[in-house]
Amino acid sequence: MRLRGSFAPPGDKSISHRVALLSLLAKGKCAVSNYSDAQDCMDSVRAVKLLGGSASFTGVKLNLVGSNRHLIKHADIDCQNSGTTMRLLMGILAGSKGQYVLTGDDSLMKRPMERIAKPLVEMGAQICCEERGFPPVTVNGGSLVGIDYVMPVASAQLKSAILLAGVQADGVTRVTEEVKSRDHTELMLKQFGVDILSENGSWVVKKSDIELPEFFNIPGDPSSAAFIICAAAMLPKSDLVAQGILLNVTRSKFLDKLTSMGADINIEFQGDSPEPWGAVRCVYSQRLSACEVTAGELPQLIDEIPILALLATQSEGVSVFHQIGELRIKESDRVAALVSELGKMGARLEIKDEDLVIYGPTTLKLARNLQSFGDHRIAMTLAIACMVADTPINIENIDCIAVSFPNFLTTLGELSQ
Ligand code: S3P
Repeated sequence: MRLRGSFAPPGDKSISHRVALLSLLAKGKCAVSNYSDAQDCMDSVRAVKLLGGSASFTGVKLNLVGSNRHLIKHADIDCQNSGTTMRLLMGILAGSKGQYVLTGDDSLMKRPMERIAKPLVEMGAQICCEERGFPPVTVNGGSLVGIDYVMPVASAQLKSAILLAGVQADGVTRVTEEVKSRDHTELMLKQFGVDILSENGSWVVKKSDIELPEFFNIPGDPSSAAFIICAAAMLPKSDLVAQGILLNVTRSKFLDKLTSMGADINIEFQGDSPEPWGAVRCVYSQRLSACEVTAGELPQLIDEIPILALLATQSEGVSVFHQIGELRIKESDRVAALVSELGKMGARLEIKDEDLVIYGPTTLKLARNLQSFGDHRIAMTLAIACMVADTPINIENIDCIAVSFPNFLTTLGELSQ
């Protein structure tokens, strides 16, 4: 099986969430093109509407009308599987006088929310989580004051929640991150007229009006494209191009890793609005070598670790992914899922303290009962593993892929020759 041709993944999921949710705080009207059709992003659109916002589709174009902070005063919002929806909403609702209850599906109801609640409470919001720090999250929002916050963990969702509260808070809010995570919220706030600047590794934001641009075009999601790009690197005679991909440096590190592993990657920048984007070509490489991901690199590769782990099983030598504890609290425990499911196919993965160690190359073989654990990125990784093993794709709850990339299997089918 080889992959040839070109494809365009859905619009970037992180940027899609942000533009929809920011409309709750912003003024003006915006026509958004290439909004992601991922279930997660539709959950953000639904949340906007439940809060009284205006978000409607004309064909594939999303029309937003800013609510300018005039939100419905009481709402129960089911964020389904979407951690980004819940966490960014916490920051937005922290500054809104009203009472809001946020819940999710079985997976989201077991994910940590206390880390977001803590700084928002410091800013003046009343926020309660269930006793282990899980949802339901009850937000009683109100007047906020700025804080000076040093991030205890590299998380773009945490950073974004604080900045979204900060833009509504009196005084100055400063967020300092030791390790840089994706910066879409900061860039978008700046583009939408907010008083925000970067100062020696900190983001400093002041209370501001937010103005939606008339038009906003979302580049393709590199984290979704990564599965197909990595597949091309592993499947003999493949040669494909991912079109219109977001190339923000806080998101494109997996391409550097692939290149350092010996993959044949060519990047062509084609534009820089609203963020850099372009085309990525990947041609099959006969020889891939092991990789090392340091703790400092992890935040910029966080969503690509599952597919990089699969790539490591096909690469010569010992790959080490350092301190990957954050991966245990994603939509599933991704470390355990990779070890058990790729292990069933014959791969050799080991957990050593906080590190994931992979011995390659190994020949993957047919396995029965492959489990996705309802996690879209595990399901896509296993689907590509089945293609590498040249076996039928047979994975329990494979439909969860729609959380981020509804057309994934169709796209693979179209590229397969
Ligand atoms: C995201 C941030 C990351 C990432 C998630 C999307 C975002 O989560 O894994 O898929 O859009 O801000 P963390 O902030 O928990 O690292």
